[in-house]
Amino acid sequence: MDNINIGLLGCGVVGTGILRVLADKRDTLRKERGLSIDVRGIVVRDLDQPRDNIVDTAKLHTDWIQVCADDDIDVVIEVMGGTDSARDAVLYALRHGKSVVTANKELMAKYGEEIRRVAREYGQFVRFEASVLAGIPVVHTLETYFHISQIVRLRGIMNGTSNYILTRMHQEGLAFADALRAAQALGYAEANPDMDVDGIDAWCKLQILLDCIGVPQDARVGTEIGGIRSISQADIRTAQTQNCKIKHIVSAEWDVASGLVNWHVGPETLTLDDPLYAIDDVQNAICIDGDASGTITLSGPGAGALPTASAVLEDVLKIAQKLQVSLSV
Ligand code: HSE
Repeated sequence: MDNINIGLLGCGVVGTGILRVLADKRDTLRKERGLSIDVRGIVVRDLDQPRDNIVDTAKLHTDWIQVCADDDIDVVIEVMGGTDSARDAVLYALRHGKSVVTANKELMAKYGEEIRRVAREYGQFVRFEASVLAGIPVVHTLETYFHISQIVRLRGIMNGTSNYILTRMHQEGLAFADALRAAQALGYAEANPDMDVDGIDAWCKLQILLDCIGVPQDARVGTEIGGIRSISQADIRTAQTQNCKIKHIVSAEWDVASGLVNWHVGPETLTLDDPLYAIDDVQNAICIDGDASGTITLSGPGAGALPTASAVLEDVLKIAQKLQVSLSV
């Protein structure tokens, strides 16, 4: 039996989801892969906050240094969000011999280059599948595929909260503010929902995908990041009378002659024949156009505790394999 010890930074909706999925999968992982994944320490801001009973309160700490420096911990999972403490903690963990899994898109969009460089310097691994489209394996797909076909366009619905809000506005005539409250109650929105509704969350996810594909910063051309805040019921009704839907769309197009990638983030009116027209609720989708492969579409839940937890734990397994734990895969 091989063993991976985890330090969990953050125990909100996603952190609790990770503990829940780990508990559900513990026996299967042991039986089928000979692997035991044990959470040794959990870092939270407030020890007294009420928590789900899946959380072992004896493992709670408030000091991330204690957990990131613990010699018994192999992998640090960062799901605390934000960028200040998260960046410090992730860099500290890498420099103290831990590999890192993060679901933090803002962190990876802003500091991904530095984090990957430090991981390489210290011989550690950093994985971030859950930071883009939660449970949809788009990072895995871009890393392991498209070596023959050259990507010429990405286009997708990359923010679950915005898609959920627009769907409720279309289907039930809800006002924007009421639909946002519903998305928050379901745990889809970020702690600061402006990130979602102003398009920044979706823009961060696109930047991470462009990093994965190796597009240099100075080849990325775009201007304004658009959100859905100003969309009214009148806009929705106008789209509906034309059999259309308003969706929040992220796109990037490669200009082969110049080598530049033109990106766009904002609401668009989609016609019935658009492959993204039917992607409703909290679902996300991404269409990847390759010059030889044609269009490949991945779709699935783009937010929520369990899909995000599932992607985080897939990354832990990938690291376990890389650490040459003998998995029977
Ligand atoms: N707030 C994000 C969304 C969560 O709604 O898509 C998943 O990244």
